[in-house]
Amino acid sequence: MTTEAMLAGRGLVKKFGSVPALAGVDIDIPAGQTLAIMGPSGSGKSTLLHCLSGILAPNSGEVTLGNRQVSGLSDAKRSQLRLHEFGFVFQDGQLIPELPARENVALPLMLSGTSRRQALRAADEWLTRLGLETESQRRPGEMSGGQAQRVAIARALAVNPSVVFADEPTGALDQATGHEVMQLLTVTARRTGSTLVLVTHDPQVAAWCDRLVEIRDGRIHADSAAERAQADVQVEAGEAR
Ligand SMILES: Nc1ncnc2c1ncn2[C@@H]1O[C@H](COP(=O)(O)OP(=O)(O)O)[C@@H](O)[C@H]1O
Ligand SMILES: [Mg+2]
Repeated sequence: MTTEAMLAGRGLVKKFGSVPALAGVDIDIPAGQTLAIMGPSGSGKSTLLHCLSGILAPNSGEVTLGNRQVSGLSDAKRSQLRLHEFGFVFQDGQLIPELPARENVALPLMLSGTSRRQALRAADEWLTRLGLETESQRRPGEMSGGQAQRVAIARALAVNPSVVFADEPTGALDQATGHEVMQLLTVTARRTGSTLVLVTHDPQVAAWCDRLVEIRDGRIHADSAAERAQADVQVEAGEAR
């Protein structure tokens, strides 16, 4: 269910061996915000996404969704939270090759307790919304890369998630198709009120989001929200003079 819950990371540290992939990240992501994360390869973007979404447990720090803990839950509870609250769009290998598009979209709904009939009906609605009604019986291998990504978006959004996490989801597509898919993702997330946390290399895609955070060496290097707040303070100070 979409909720008005802020997703927050506090003091997130994640180490693989001696070099930390995350070296202390604090971030507040208000409900409904579309956030782009950019940064060099190996800077910790995916690790941040995985910690925020409960796929990885941080070595220290905590993640909360509203007043609920994401980090620190048992594996089973974290899986439940992921299933009910989060949608995921990753680069590839995320659709089940044996299943037609509509069953791929319906699967997370069925896993979270929706009846097969209702889940398939919701899947058909989402596929239509994303312009895929004629593809609904095709398997992933029988579709173009862009179509498969749209199926993945339909699948992520069909559970009506609080937060959609997308990790470089257009890396394997040509630029025009990639832009089309990303525009669809950002527009649909806005329309449904889902928070979107999106890792991208593409500045144009980032520009469609409300906010841009840049990660370097496992830390937040720049944050357009902080810069905007700073500019507001300066304007107010100027007005007060
Ligand atoms: N499962 C892992 N095992 C060991 N090292 C990892 C693992 N995942 C990430 N890393 C390391 O952590 C750092 C950050 O990785 P990652 O978050 O994937 O960066 P990005 O997504 O920005 O390219 C890199 O140095 C990477 O090699
Ligand atoms: Mg990555």
